[in-house]
Amino acid sequence: MKVTRPNQSRSFGLLHITEEIQVLDSQCGLNGTGVVENGSGKEEAVYFSNETLEEVLAQTVIVVPCKDETLEVIRGVVSKIPAPCLVILVSNSERGVDDDQYLQQVEMLKTFGASSGQQILAIHQKDPRAARAFQASGMTELLDSKDGTIRNGKGEGMLLGIAVASAFRDTHRYIGFVDADNFDGDSANEYCKAFAAGFAMCPSPDVEHSMVRLRWASKPKLREDGHYEFVTEGRCSRIVNSWLNKLFTPTESNSFVSTGNAGEHALTIDLALKLRMAAGYAIEPYHFIDLLERGHLAVNRNGVSAQLLDKPVRILQIRTRSPHYHQSGGPEHIRKMWAAGLGAIYHNLAQYETIPGSASGGISQLRQDIHKFAAENGGIQHPTGELPRPRIYPALGDANMAKFRDVMEAGSVPTTLAVVGLGAKGQFGV
Ligand code: GDD
Ligand code: MG
Repeated sequence: MKVTRPNQSRSFGLLHITEEIQVLDSQCGLNGTGVVENGSGKEEAVYFSNETLEEVLAQTVIVVPCKDETLEVIRGVVSKIPAPCLVILVSNSERGVDDDQYLQQVEMLKTFGASSGQQILAIHQKDPRAARAFQASGMTELLDSKDGTIRNGKGEGMLLGIAVASAFRDTHRYIGFVDADNFDGDSANEYCKAFAAGFAMCPSPDVEHSMVRLRWASKPKLREDGHYEFVTEGRCSRIVNSWLNKLFTPTESNSFVSTGNAGEHALTIDLALKLRMAAGYAIEPYHFIDLLERGHLAVNRNGVSAQLLDKPVRILQIRTRSPHYHQSGGPEHIRKMWAAGLGAIYHNLAQYETIPGSASGGISQLRQDIHKFAAENGGIQHPTGELPRPRIYPALGDANMAKFRDVMEAGSVPTTLAVVGLGAKGQFGV
């Protein structure tokens, strides 16, 4: 894989954000560096061989959250995840008596796993044992107060994926997320390779935490006249990125932060256990806020409950080449998604005035501006008159993950954690 070498990054205490890197070519050759033409001049590039990428991928768990996708679409994604990765399907699909979609997913994965040999696990978000495991670990915030199951939501499913993946820390250092609602599995393959190239560019996880966030080349939209328009920034991303840029790069009109809502992202498992995470679709924008707070804003501040980061965190933003074909959400879905993202920014920066050392015009002004934007665009909730306040979950690493694992391991309930591939046997005693 060939990618551009980033020249610039912005630092906010321990948080370092690099400018967007571009995938130039997803074919693998030898490791090395070079110079490439980019249309308007020459650019430095870094090349990664297949061996280098596979070494990282063999240490990577890929979590695929799914809900309403068809078996065909899920299979299309899972089957294109590079073979060295361990895959965890976290399903929140319907489990009707006559139509149990989750069991059908497990059967499909078994067939695929048996023929490919890929390590695959599957777990259902509403599994009672998984809920009991979180209860035992102390992570009770994740549980629905009415029925005690794990709450609905993409972020919640991802947290379950991280908790399961953490049992593989002896052999796996990285965790990545790839949405199931992707009609072109080849792009999922490129996403995983881009994660690996990003990690290969970073210092060892012993020295620094890293996170790789992807921006799709485009989302094709079929217009009424029958033509495809290749939109380069989604409706939600356009809004959330613009406010993150006002926060991080207020004096510039560029789009330094281009991955505010990166559904496809990856990070070291250690970091995934340290981060506080936001509910639902606010999970991705809130990464930036938690890292800014704990890597910079809360440093030297009395009375702040945030636990400081123990080492630097580097965020790499990578633009991939494949267009992203997925089930496009309606206007209400998009509105809820950006409002949740902006709400995560708005509410969680309330105790800070400015970003020290940056040209930030002031956080309270920014919050007022966000509120005004939300009020004008239907992002305010009634009757509070406020932006939505997504639930923020404590870091999983602060819960007792050994107890989580004990409960998951107790007994053998095949539907709790369906082990599908060959090599995954033995984990969780299933
Ligand atoms: N396990 C689980 N549980 N998965 C879920 C849930 C849930 O409650 N809700 C949604 N998902 C899965 C979907 O099945 C899909 O594979 C993926 O999460 C994305 O959900 P969508 O509802 O399709 O979201 P989107 O496509 O509008 O938004 C995606 O892209 C945004 C950036 O444009 C998401 O990845 C967002 O998080 C992201 O910000
Ligand atoms: Mg989608």
